[in-house]
Amino acid sequence: MIGVGVIGYGYWGPNLVRCLSELGTAQVKAISDRRPDALARAGARNPGVRLCENYLDVLKDLSIDAVAIATPVETHFELAMAALRTGKHVWLEKPMCRTSAEAYRLIDEAERTGLTLLVDHTFIYTPAVRKIAELVAAGALGQFYYYDSTRVNLGLFRHDTNVIWDLAVHDFSILDHLLAERPIAISANGASHVRGTPESMAFVTIFYGSGTIAHLNVNWLAPVKVRQTLIGGSRKMIVYDDLEPSEKVKVYDKGVVLSPAREQLYQMMVEYRAGDMWAPHLVVKEALQTEAQHFVDCIEDKAKPITGGSMGLRVIELMEAAVRSMRERGHPTELEALRKAS
Ligand SMILES: NC(=O)c1ccc[n+]([C@@H]2O[C@H](COP(=O)([O-])OP(=O)(O)OC[C@H]3O[C@@H](n4cnc5c(N)ncnc54)[C@H](O)[C@@H]3O)[C@@H](O)[C@H]2O)c1
Repeated sequence: MIGVGVIGYGYWGPNLVRCLSELGTAQVKAISDRRPDALARAGARNPGVRLCENYLDVLKDLSIDAVAIATPVETHFELAMAALRTGKHVWLEKPMCRTSAEAYRLIDEAERTGLTLLVDHTFIYTPAVRKIAELVAAGALGQFYYYDSTRVNLGLFRHDTNVIWDLAVHDFSILDHLLAERPIAISANGASHVRGTPESMAFVTIFYGSGTIAHLNVNWLAPVKVRQTLIGGSRKMIVYDDLEPSEKVKVYDKGVVLSPAREQLYQMMVEYRAGDMWAPHLVVKEALQTEAQHFVDCIEDKAKPITGGSMGLRVIELMEAAVRSMRERGHPTELEALRKAS
């Protein structure tokens, strides 16, 4: 049985407490939050669990093997580093930390101590993304042409972070998981329409050496909520609508076939292929439950998590590069050059 402490009991922390407690292979022994009202809520819902205002009391507890950190991003580095240094495995909320420099240091510390470091990029554990990854890995889509995502809604306006860090972070992690290839450049444009707040809408384009291209439209100032991704491949295309209650993933046998025109040898003829659509069966399981089990398995087997520190770092590097481009009105940030420099 893995003893767990959860640090941060605001909006997301209670979900971690619930999923880890339900596993049967882990026991939440302590919850820490510096707000007394959050601790009171935690106590009412989790009788028998130790409550601590100071997270250091969780780290000192020898019955705790792992901590889950669900506090604001600016605290992630300090808390995760302290946890690793006291020998605790770490579940760290996304985004992993504020900068790639911090991410490198956390990865080094986890490597040095042999402890598990998982970054909670929850989307990777959803049945829909797992099915899409399975189809991509099996080559069902053919050549991966494009990924085109719309992730818009009204609010929540945040003062501490921009829309790329809040919403595009999900697509960066999904792309990292789907594609073996790493992007070569990124370009972004964005704007803030509410005075005093960071960019609330952005258009991000990601370029890959193979010709694959990704486009993300993220926006906090949209009249409707949309979570739709089109994925185009040479053999199949996918529509992934995360708001669909049941058939979230639809696979279309549509595309174009190029064949040389008979009369003119150098002209290509475009034929359209309009085959069937099917909606693959998706397992019914909460992503966080799958992820919680994976965390415990990684600790027990000393295995690397699917969403480990390296993925957390690559996502942060992309966000840094995207924000840099956005501040230069879309001038592309060349990622190869950045990688060589670091
Ligand atoms: N994986 C996901 O899909 C997902 C969803 C929502 C939030 N998150 C992430 O979870 C994290 C928390 O987000 P939230 O929406 O729950 O924030 P929140 O502000 O609702 O809650 C954070 C809590 O942490 C507490 N806290 C801050 N510093 C602390 C410290 N040093 N010790 C103990 N407690 C401390 C605060 O008092 C607060 O109660 C963020 O990184 C966010 O990006 C992830």
